[in-house]
Amino acid sequence: MAMRLQSLLLGVLLLTGFAAADGKTTAVIPSRYSSASLNRSSFPSGFVFGSASASYQYEGAWNEGGRGPSIWDNFTHQYPEKISDGSNGDVADDQYRRYKEDVKIMKDMGLDAYRFSISWSRLL
Ligand SMILES: *[C@@H]1O[C@H](CO)[C@@H](O)[C@H](O)[C@H]1NC(C)=O
Ligand SMILES: *[C@@H]1O[C@H](CO)[C@@H](O)[C@H](O)[C@H]1NC(C)=O
Repeated sequence: MAMRLQSLLLGVLLLTGFAAADGKTTAVIPSRYSSASLNRSSFPSGFVFGSASASYQYEGAWNEGGRGPSIWDNFTHQYPEKISDGSNGDVADDQYRRYKEDVKIMKDMGLDAYRFSISWSRLL
């Protein structure tokens, strides 16, 4: 639960800003914020307080619900050594199975919005 809350807070923080450095996208997290004290009251009332996720990093269930393999599934399964820690999105944050728990965390956090994606290979 703490890990999932941390993931959602990271999503919130990532929405606060990005900077490109050496071709890589880097989150700019103001040093005065810590995930322990950042909450809805940290922002003005008109601010849409939300979080976001991307299917490959969050969804998991790579071969369930009629989902076929994506080109990235194929690549990470065929060449795990090409990923620095050998990880892949097979399980990821398992939102496919745990979405109710995630929505509860979002509700508890007082989020106004949640942006997510569904894998193309699941839709197709
Ligand atoms: C919410 O965040 C503010 C800082 O923005 C902090 O002072 C306050 O203690 C936090 N509240 C909770 C319940 O964490
Ligand atoms: C992934 O691999 C499977 C099995 O070899 C293949 O049928 C499928 O076309 C591949 N998908 C993509 C997107 O490359």
